[in-house]
Formats: sequence, C-alpha cells, structure tokens
Amino acid sequence: MVRKIILDCDPGHDDAIAILLAYANPAVDLLAVTTVAGNQTLPKTTLNARRVMTVAGIRDVPVAAGADRPLVREQIVAENIHGESGLDGPRFGEPTVELDPRHAVDLIIETVLEHGDVTLVPVGPLTNVALAIRREPRILPRIREIVLMGGSYTLGNVTPAAEFNIYADPEAADVVFSSGLPITMIGLELTHQVKATPEVVARIRALGNPVAEMAAELLTYFASTYKKVFGFDGAPLHDPCAVAYVIDPELIECQPANVQVELRGTWTYGATVCDMYGVTGRPANARVAIRIDAARFWDLIVEALATYSPPSS
Ligand code: BDR
Ligand code: CA
Repeated sequence: MVRKIILDCDPGHDDAIAILLAYANPAVDLLAVTTVAGNQTLPKTTLNARRVMTVAGIRDVPVAAGADRPLVREQIVAENIHGESGLDGPRFGEPTVELDPRHAVDLIIETVLEHGDVTLVPVGPLTNVALAIRREPRILPRIREIVLMGGSYTLGNVTPAAEFNIYADPEAADVVFSSGLPITMIGLELTHQVKATPEVVARIRALGNPVAEMAAELLTYFASTYKKVFGFDGAPLHDPCAVAYVIDPELIECQPANVQVELRGTWTYGATVCDMYGVTGRPANARVAIRIDAARFWDLIVEALATYSPPSS
C-alpha cells in the first residue's frame, strides 16, 4: 500500500535528496513539503526547497514555510556543513515553484485531517511538528507514525552528546517524543552507515539527467565539509534514510527503546537518552534504528534519481 507522507525539512544537502527520493519512489505519496529553520534561516531553507523542486519539476506538491526559530532556545544554524546558502555547491536559477501561502503548521494540520493515516517525516528540527501537535490534538489519531531523522544513542555531531536536529530545538523534540505517537528515530549510528563515497557520486553523475547532476554536485560539496569537519570519506545521507525506511521498512533494523530528550544538562543539552538495555524499566516510546542494508539503500537512491527527465535536446 502506498504510504502518504509529509516531509518537514530544512534543506540542506541531504534534505534535498530526501525530497527527490520521496517524490520519485512510487511506494510513497508525497502530500506536502514543509520547511523549518535549521541548517540555515527559514528564508534560506524555504528558497532551497523551491530551488530543488524547480530543478526536479515538482509542481504538484504544496510547499509551505513554517517556524523561523526554535520554541525556547536561541537559534543555531549549520553553516559549517551546508554553507552560507544552506545548499552551497550547485548554481541555481530563480525558482519558479511557488510558495503555498499557508503557514507550514496549518498545512500539516489540514493535510493530516483531510487524508488521515499520514506518516510525518521530519528531517530538520522538530519545531513545526511540535507546534502542530500542540495546536490541533485532533491530528493525533490521524497520524500513522512519525519517522524522524535526528538523535543518536552514542555520540552527537554538534556537541559530543547531541545531534543537530534535536539540539537545534530540544524542547520541540521533547514534545514529539512525549506525544504517545509511534515514533521511529533514525539517528546518527544509522545514517553514518551510508556515506556518499566518490564511487557513489560517480554512479549518480553517470545517470546524466539534470537532477542527478544537481544531486552529484550537492554530494560533492557535502562530502567536502564532512571531510573538513569530521574527517569522513564521504557525506552521510542522513535525511533520505528516513524516507527510505517508509518506502521499505525491511531496509532498516530497529530496536524499541525509551528515549528522553535532555533539557537541562550542562554538557548534554539536546541529547537523546536512549535506554537500549531497558535498564530504567520505562516503556519504549520509540523504535531506534540500528542497522541499514547500505547496498539496497544506494540502489533506491539511484533508481529514484534515474526517474527524472533526461536533459532537453
Ligand atoms: C541532520 O542535521 C542536518 O545538518 C542534516 O540535514 C540532518 O538532518 C544531521 O545531524
Ligand atoms: Ca535536515
């Protein structure tokens, strides 16, 4: 059965590939794209979503801008990873995909109430999702699942303890993890298993269409900052892992666990404290991703990018 999803994102290099995968794969029906401040400011992440959708010719999916700052903490961005534009690398023309006039939180609420059985796929800070949950509790029974990219059960990437999406708005993440909704947490231990090596980038570039070319340029830039900041040989494709899990849950192995978001720690603010051994006796409120079939994941990405039109002659 086709899964109805809303992709809430902060493009962002890996967010861009997540949009492309979600639109191209027939196992998911992309109902809406919503943007949030995260990797860059809201005007930049929103412009970037429209840029990517313009290059890909995605004109039948509404895109709306949401929260321009976190609920409580001061705003942070990830310029060291995604650059000054939030999507450095490729050259983009003026986007022609128009912005939906609704606030992203309204678009999420209206879409969930209208369709039901919707899976939310947040791949940025959880501000919009937390606001939607608080503002309209009637959406809760109409949400099938939340599959989010964020958190970790070992190390962080923005502090030694915290992953970026959770650290950028821990209070919002706490609302989501406390919501009682079924949650799958695709954290860093999982996403670091799929790094876009030069071989992967070459395979994507060889597809020869303009969307694949854009993806290859995005991945080349993303790999350069991951090399500089983390010493990695390739950029982890964090956000597409969440979409891939919805497409094919067999792809990713998960473990049920109780997950709490640290809101007070001196050194651990924004950490996801995952009780992987069940030592607290607290009931599981999430399924935490631990292993991915990397070869199958790359096939999904390449198959998706291959569906976009060849260059016009
Ligand atoms: C997450 O943070 C962002 O930089 C990426 O887009 C991803 O969503 C990884 O920690
Ligand atoms: Ca993201």
